[in-house]
Amino acid sequence: MAQQNIYDNGTFFEGYQKLRQREANANNLFEIPERFALLPDLTGLRILDLGCGTGEHEKDYINMGAKEVVGIDISDNMLEVARTKNNDSRITYIKMSMEDLGKLEGEFDLVVSALAINYIEDFEGVVRNVNRLLVMNGEFIFSQEHPVNTCNSGKERWTKDENGVKIHANLTNYAVEGERDTVWFVDNVKIYHRKISTVINSLVDAGFAIEKLAEPVPSEEILEKYPEYYDLKHKPDFLLVKARKTNNI
Ligand SMILES: C[S@@+](CC[C@H](N)C(=O)[O-])C[C@H]1O[C@@H](n2cnc3c(N)ncnc32)[C@H](O)[C@@H]1O
Repeated sequence: MAQQNIYDNGTFFEGYQKLRQREANANNLFEIPERFALLPDLTGLRILDLGCGTGEHEKDYINMGAKEVVGIDISDNMLEVARTKNNDSRITYIKMSMEDLGKLEGEFDLVVSALAINYIEDFEGVVRNVNRLLVMNGEFIFSQEHPVNTCNSGKERWTKDENGVKIHANLTNYAVEGERDTVWFVDNVKIYHRKISTVINSLVDAGFAIEKLAEPVPSEEILEKYPEYYDLKHKPDFLLVKARKTNNI
């Protein structure tokens, strides 16, 4: 299936890199700490990372004791940074779409994925392949944009008062799953919205037991330093899932 490869769009890539270089971005403040808190002891583990991007976490996983890390991604731009900046003999980067995961061979103790799953239409197919690639009792830990965000394709996300203060988030078409045409650095960024129940039931149907969900929100300390993140009191930006393979399918 042809996937949109938006990270190879120059304008998008430049905007994304600038965002990630900001110290107080939502990845650094919320997504990364929550994901790392879900990780098991990585000593000796074989890890597969879906949508590995620039590979910044592959180096972290190696430094935390992983035996080997395989990162797959669809974007040449992201993989070029990964291969230049986060190169290690124990790390392998493969240009591959998650939707082609059926072509990947190997056996892994842990599959991780950070903020890449929303670009995938066939989540069930990916999850079934994750089951195939994991050892029994292996874990699948991933983060995604929260469904309360992905339901709304970006137009009028907030209801504001006459002073422009956000009163509440607009939850639109939550029950309508599927493609959303969003605006993020450029127009027409394609993502896929799924209900929380669809995400969880796809995992259960593919032989996983759910161990933990997380929806990071800012602490009072973070809000004092970065009041712009008060929005997250209304709704979380990210959903994180920790699941364990309990059955072969
Ligand atoms: C928001 S970035 C996250 C990168 C990295 N996981 C991180 O947290 O720093 C999303 C990544 O998913 C990749 N991606 C998007 N669609 C993909 C697909 N169909 N298959 C594999 N990777 C994909 C993008 O190229 C991009 O590198």
